[in-house]
Amino acid sequence: MRALVSHAPGLDGLSLDERETPRPGPGQVLLRMRAAAVTLRDCKMAAGAYGAEDRGPLVLGGEGVGEIVECGRDVAGWRIGQRVNPLFVQGWTGERVHVDEVATTTLGGPRLDGTFAQFMLASAASLVEVPAHLGDAEAATLPFAGLTAWCAVQGVGPGDTVVVQGTGGIPLFALQFARLAGARVIVSSKSDEKLERARALGADHTFNYQAQPDWHRTVLELTEGRGADRVLDPGGSVTIAQSLRALRPGGTASVFNALGSAEIEVSLPWLLGHNLRVRGVNAGSLAAHRAMAAAIGESGLRPVLECVLPFEAAADAVAAAPRREQFGKVCLQMTA
Ligand SMILES: NC(=O)c1ccc[n+]([C@@H]2O[C@H](COP(=O)([O-])OP(=O)(O)OC[C@H]3O[C@@H](n4cnc5c(N)ncnc54)[C@H](OP(=O)(O)O)[C@@H]3O)[C@@H](O)[C@H]2O)c1
Repeated sequence: MRALVSHAPGLDGLSLDERETPRPGPGQVLLRMRAAAVTLRDCKMAAGAYGAEDRGPLVLGGEGVGEIVECGRDVAGWRIGQRVNPLFVQGWTGERVHVDEVATTTLGGPRLDGTFAQFMLASAASLVEVPAHLGDAEAATLPFAGLTAWCAVQGVGPGDTVVVQGTGGIPLFALQFARLAGARVIVSSKSDEKLERARALGADHTFNYQAQPDWHRTVLELTEGRGADRVLDPGGSVTIAQSLRALRPGGTASVFNALGSAEIEVSLPWLLGHNLRVRGVNAGSLAAHRAMAAAIGESGLRPVLECVLPFEAAADAVAAAPRREQFGKVCLQMTA
């Protein structure tokens, strides 16, 4: 089988290699991968971030969909041919997960091979059946981008206002999930053309964050001075100050990425005075993934795809991730 292997930190250490197809051990299944999705994390992982500086060769890829082709010993409840997502953090099958478990059981992470392969092993306890109406490329986007967005908007309901910054994979899922929950959604982008597409997807209001660097004022105007109930923050140091000022008292900022430096500075008088919550979101649990899949199945929601590329283009797609101007997700198709 072929797999996209990062041999050593650095993008020149990437190659599509021929490897032996693995065999499932006890409690594992072998998946024939049908599609996978690319995130900036794959590029950072290849470059040596996330504790991946000191590691052996690694198959990249945090999210994907495959069909079960073989079950190891002690696997019950799954059958050959079922189309499933492996959970992004394989070890997060209970309510909470220890940070060490995240570091060691994340797909395509420094310790565990990922989804950019024609076959992969997954823990049977981590599988989630894929909503039947989704195509393979659509289904591939659920474990990381979908689940992060799902967890970032948890608790949002009718009458709430949610601010979604950017138009990559996570923000567009968040827009769809927040609308599904009955919330009003405000989307930002640096591109007016992308904002028009966001409105067509259901955004109630939009603004250009480059044209309006002081954009919390726009959110306050749109909410009659009250502020948003939830702000999804993709930027940390780049965006957190505006995000916190755009929130209503008692509101929550869900931070899911660090566009700028790894550290953020927060005004404590503002945070305490407004009883705000800053919540880090790093994917989610098996129960959350199952709840998301059920909601997608019931609603008929379809993930937004920028493009679907052949598996042969995997290395280029990973290397291009930091520069790509995408609207939604970039996917890889493993099967014809
Ligand atoms: N925490 C987690 O569990 C988790 C899960 C998956 C991915 N991630 C990480 O989260 C990041 C985002 O992934 P993604 O797929 O949503 O996005 P992406 O496709 O990597 O695109 C980057 C996004 O950032 C937006 N952006 C850039 N500068 C901005 C600014 N100053 N203000 C607001 N938005 C800004 C861009 O919006 P416009 O082009 O519209 O301007 C674009 O949507 C990636 O680095 C990924 O590795 C985290």
